[in-house]
Amino acid sequence: MRRKIVAGNWKMNKTLSQGHILVDEILSLTNVSTDILKIIAPPFIHLASVSEQLSSRTDFAVAAQDCHHINSGAYTGEVSAEMIASSGAKFVIIGHSERRLYAAENNELLAQKVNIALANNLSPIFCIGENSDERNANIHLEAVRTQIKEGLFHLSPADFNKVIIAYEPVWAIGTGLTATSHQAQGVHNFIRTEINKKYGKEISENCSILYGGSCNASNAKELFSCIDIDGGLIGGASLKSADFAAIINSY
Ligand code: PGA
Repeated sequence: MRRKIVAGNWKMNKTLSQGHILVDEILSLTNVSTDILKIIAPPFIHLASVSEQLSSRTDFAVAAQDCHHINSGAYTGEVSAEMIASSGAKFVIIGHSERRLYAAENNELLAQKVNIALANNLSPIFCIGENSDERNANIHLEAVRTQIKEGLFHLSPADFNKVIIAYEPVWAIGTGLTATSHQAQGVHNFIRTEINKKYGKEISENCSILYGGSCNASNAKELFSCIDIDGGLIGGASLKSADFAAIINSY
């Protein structure tokens, strides 16, 4: 049975003390429940400290927002998957649309990041999603297929089983424009069908596929009730404890 997951991506927000307060508030507003895995993705510099803060709650885990595609070396300013794993994080977001856009990350590079994450026992949260031009031209399914094919389909079945997918239509990220549950379910079902074609029914049924893009306390329940939506990757609404807890508690 696949896991239900609600993940909060803080992006480049929160000082260490602000992050600690946010986490404390989220912990106090949510029940201990292993039904839903909650993941917090703070900036790199807070990973070890937030991991420590969450260590008593088995229903919470920590993710990095990116990793480098090489394990170590003369890459000033970069952070490796091995370092992330040593901080206590268990997950890493790879291929977020902001990295694809601002850091020009392509599927070939992202496939290498996926490999190095898995080699260091980190589960990738692999982000895919069409932009508004692709949606308007009705080629969004093709766009999403290319991203999973080039980014993930080189993996062995055992490694693919460790991957979480986040479908985040770029036009919905941080815009307040959410995909309707019908639109999101349609793409999630398409993704699961592609996984089924490549890896078979059992692996496709086991894969958690999260929705991201202006997911908030008022639309989360409807989105999460769709059969192929297994939770959310939340940006803006993960920065406020009441909003993030309400999303978790609506599941
Ligand atoms: P948003 O961001 O919830 O602010 O739209 C989602 C994301 O970028 O993961």
